Amino acid sequence: MSKKIVSMTVNGRQVEEVVEPRTLLIHFLREKMNLTGAHIGCETSHCGACTVDIDGQSVKSCTHLAVQCDGSEVKTVEGLANAGVLHAVQEGFYKEHGLQCGFCTPGMLMRASRLLQDNPNPTEEEVRHGMSGNLCRCTGYQNIVKAVLHAARALQDNKVAA
Ligand code: FES
Ligand code: FES
Repeated sequence: MSKKIVSMTVNGRQVEEVVEPRTLLIHFLREKMNLTGAHIGCETSHCGACTVDIDGQSVKSCTHLAVQCDGSEVKTVEGLANAGVLHAVQEGFYKEHGLQCGFCTPGMLMRASRLLQDNPNPTEEEVRHGMSGNLCRCTGYQNIVKAVLHAARALQDNKVAA
């Protein structure tokens, strides 16, 4: 199979790599970029453990090809904190105990950060709807919802880095 060159920005860094056309973005990130924050769960776009941000949209990287990201701006959970300061959603999950085993958490954080960029002051119902593509087997979602609302308040109050 002929290989392709892809170039994209990953967490603010310009990268260029040779990949097979069939390479999934999740494998590109984990194996080529050594960014193992995004997890592989269902591999069928259901669980959201692999969620990353591409050009301002939440994308499930287990069903997205690396070559589809040519020229794109990709952000992973490793790019959320800024110079050692936790992002508001990370702080929210920490403060509200929004995780147990943590397997779903990188995807949850990426989805939550996108949700709050698109809707900085969501209702609880909007958070539940906005996070509904990300599944958690542990928490029952109550604290995840609280965590996202906590982050929204912090961003509104401008107490924590966006
Ligand atoms: S691993 Fe991608 S949605 Fe589950
Ligand atoms: S914290 Fe375990 S799957 Fe969500």
